[in-house]
Amino acid sequence: MNDSSKRLFPAGFLWGTATSAHQVEGGNTNNDWWEWEQIAGHIRDGSTSQQACDHYHRYNEDWALARDLGQNAHRLSIEWSRIEPQEGVWSEAEIGHYRDVLLSLRSHSLEPMVTLHHFTNPRWFAGKGGWENPAAVRAFANYVGRVVSELKDLCSLWITINEPMVYFYEGYLTRRWPPGKGGIGRGLCALRTMIRAHGRAYGFIHQIQPHAQVGIAHNMRLLDPLNPHSLLDRLVVDAEDRAFNRVLLWALLDGYLRFPLGKGEFVPEAANSLDFIGLNYYTRDMVSFAMRGATALVARNVARPGAETDLFGWELYPEGIYRLLKELAVYQKPIYITEHGLADGTDTQRPGCIIRAVQAMWQALAEGVSLRGYFHWSLLDNFEWAEGFSIPFGLVAVNRQTMERRVKESGRVYARICAANGLPPDLLEQYEVQKAMR
Ligand code: FCB
Repeated sequence: MNDSSKRLFPAGFLWGTATSAHQVEGGNTNNDWWEWEQIAGHIRDGSTSQQACDHYHRYNEDWALARDLGQNAHRLSIEWSRIEPQEGVWSEAEIGHYRDVLLSLRSHSLEPMVTLHHFTNPRWFAGKGGWENPAAVRAFANYVGRVVSELKDLCSLWITINEPMVYFYEGYLTRRWPPGKGGIGRGLCALRTMIRAHGRAYGFIHQIQPHAQVGIAHNMRLLDPLNPHSLLDRLVVDAEDRAFNRVLLWALLDGYLRFPLGKGEFVPEAANSLDFIGLNYYTRDMVSFAMRGATALVARNVARPGAETDLFGWELYPEGIYRLLKELAVYQKPIYITEHGLADGTDTQRPGCIIRAVQAMWQALAEGVSLRGYFHWSLLDNFEWAEGFSIPFGLVAVNRQTMERRVKESGRVYARICAANGLPPDLLEQYEVQKAMR
């Protein structure tokens, strides 16, 4: 059998899963999300993150599980509110905790990718206006400097900020997430501060650790016109694609804040501030021009009519990975898929979706895209923000009473892919059969 029929990936490809501190650790009482969860009506199933997956105490067990499932990397986040519980006050104990977490990861042969900000803000930071306050740039840089200095012997792959566009969208437009107030103007202000903060942190990390690889995790939604023959549908697709998928990336590549992010201002620290692109990809929307029932100004986004969807109502479209990888390749940066997954309560859709995603990645790699790794979201069923525990994304289920972990079928399928560093022949065959039926 030749390499192409085995769907082999390059040596050293990172196969892992992604988590974030607030969603799995438990006991994160000192951030703005915790405050948000306490208010009735904010979390769909009435839950709060509480103990979450008790990962704060069970990380050894969880890393052993990830290793036993063939993974060789893990993307995790550090909780700022633990490290700096009050402004300028550093917790040696919590820094020590994260050192232990990373030491344990490494001892399980898992390469760490560390996210420094994954949606949650320390209460003191949120209380001072959060990302709307220009002082956030310095505050974030201080925190990043401290963390990177303390952990630089254990990690060299850093994500500064997770999904700034989603933070903007959910925090300021839908207002389903904290800060839950404001609107477009204040949201854009927060976004611009995040860009500056990323740029500053990028420079700072490289000063402390010259060989560091630094990026962001950028959520991209594929957008297609509902009616490809409609000029208006195509125009709103272009506008939305620019606003949600492009302007942030452009700012971090050449430093210019283009409309609607800004008026073309140049932010020197943001220019050339990505060593790699982290892509978080979940789904595609079909977009139409709409004056009534619009979901974004004059656009209406829906799942493709008739498509198979997950519990969020998102179209299952892992093939989109190939399209986005090809688009991102023009920027000539290494790429990691820093998240991809689906909300599947029965684990019936997840195995097939993972196989399709791997096939899509392989195809892009075969065409020369510089893809370095894939982090499935997520290792564990966890606290899915405003959805609480009602929407499971894990390869591993967590019993909410006992915290016992149970590997799902998708976890085993993914394990076979990791172990083979590609798609084993029988999974490829299964893929071809299902593709013919779709
Ligand atoms: C992403 C988030 C992650 C998780 C998944 C489902 O937008 O980064 O924390 O909630 O969606």
